[in-house]
Amino acid sequence: MEKIIILDFGSQTTQLIGRRIREIGVYSEILPGEAELTPAAIEGVKGIVLSGSPESVYEEGAPAPDPRIYELGLPLLGICYGTQRLMHDHGGAVSPHVGREYGRAKVHFKDEDRLLAGVTSGFVSWMSHGDAIEKLAPGYRTIAATENGVPAVVRHEAKPVWGLQFHPEVTHTEFGLQILKNFTLNIAGAKPEWNVDAFLAATSRNVKLTVGKKKALLLISGGVDSTVVAALLLQTLDRSQVHLMYIDTGLMRKGESGEVEASLKKLGADHLYHINAADKFLSALAGVGDPERKRELIGDMFITVQEAEVAKLKLDDAFLAQGTLYTDMIESGKGVGKKAHVIKSHHNVRSPLVEAKRAAGLVVEPLAALYKDEVRALGRKLGLPESVVGRHPFPGPGLGVRILGDVTREKLDILREADYLFIEELRKRGYYDKIWQAFSVLLPLRSVGVSGDMRRYGYVLSLRAVVSLDGMTADVFPFPTRDLLEISARITNSVKDIGRVVYDISSKPPATIEWE
Ligand code: XMP
Repeated sequence: MEKIIILDFGSQTTQLIGRRIREIGVYSEILPGEAELTPAAIEGVKGIVLSGSPESVYEEGAPAPDPRIYELGLPLLGICYGTQRLMHDHGGAVSPHVGREYGRAKVHFKDEDRLLAGVTSGFVSWMSHGDAIEKLAPGYRTIAATENGVPAVVRHEAKPVWGLQFHPEVTHTEFGLQILKNFTLNIAGAKPEWNVDAFLAATSRNVKLTVGKKKALLLISGGVDSTVVAALLLQTLDRSQVHLMYIDTGLMRKGESGEVEASLKKLGADHLYHINAADKFLSALAGVGDPERKRELIGDMFITVQEAEVAKLKLDDAFLAQGTLYTDMIESGKGVGKKAHVIKSHHNVRSPLVEAKRAAGLVVEPLAALYKDEVRALGRKLGLPESVVGRHPFPGPGLGVRILGDVTREKLDILREADYLFIEELRKRGYYDKIWQAFSVLLPLRSVGVSGDMRRYGYVLSLRAVVSLDGMTADVFPFPTRDLLEISARITNSVKDIGRVVYDISSKPPATIEWE
């Protein structure tokens, strides 16, 4: 398949470049900035994007692409550091003294150019650079500049090489997608053949070939990714080959375990093992208040239960299917990739089961090329209901990190009920799909209230609702006050142990999304 590769020099927004290009309908892959550009690595590649970076090109040891990049004759697009790299590597000069720009800057045309087709002069771009071009490399000219006179778009006179000082991948840049489209489709000439149908056909073939007549075991978490893998396996392989295991930690939301089971049965799952391990998890957690210790205990217990239960199935030569996503795979990037890796560590990486299966070459990861929004689209294609596909992310340790301090059965029941009402209200009011993640947190305090003539001593519940692209940063969802008042009233009227409801108005950073 034709593709665009992105060399990642460590920018926070490299993942976004990849996503945008996929949105355009062209397959994109992110490689480490210094990756060797061997003939195999560039097979099917129609163009290369050089990403931004927190580094400076003139510093010793600053990351540089394989010099072969300049011999390939492929269209190149530098973004921020990528552009400075192009200048620096060809005799231009980059300096911190030209003018730092952070945030919005207007870009004015000096010339017409293919890269700017359909773009209006004076458009607003998003800048984030300390360095800028002081002197163009020979053979280059400036096509557009900011009001401060800093080159914003440059190109080589004869070669298909362009450079941008701003970030076209962020939504704050007007015409950003248009510029990437011009590069990808018109300049690089990549065909827009990347879509869910093409992916499904290719990945199904792949899974069939890989697994062959063996069995495939998948651990279901109830989240979108593993459920989509389950649907894919059930559609691709013979049902008798597919073994699904769901470990109920007792830290799940109200009705969640039942819903997971029902939706998998509907997809035709024959071998579905629903393990109820709530007692084990709750005994391990008894009296433990420290958040990191709780996470550790939950992670360790998950592995213990998983090992014991999987051993019972005697599926020694079965493949282990995993819902790993593209963002989990990228290790070089400083953004989503690394974080996602850490976040999922106790369920994916550290597990002896995964390690043993990997060592035996028995791991299959059918979503490893996909971004989250593509997984959702694939899930819809496979017939999963919107209630599963559009579900907000849920952390591995579940409600264990949403009850601050020690976790008890009583607190779990209170939180489950209150959270259920909160989410139900969000759906009813049409907010659920506008919010990236919403949930309730049970605080380890009680406060005084009255109901009827009775003094009441109830828990404090904090509601959290954030908008975000990837969980790395997040803004508070701005509810109209009336909604908050009504939701609060419903919760305090229905859950007798909750005496007070507060709304968390902290963005990330400085707060995190979860409270623990
Ligand atoms: P924070 O709280 O770090 O969360 O802003 C960012 C995103 O990651 C999720 N999260 C976790 N997911 N295991 C997980 O699988 C964890 O230990 C964990 N901690 C946070 C969180 O729900 C949010 O989507």
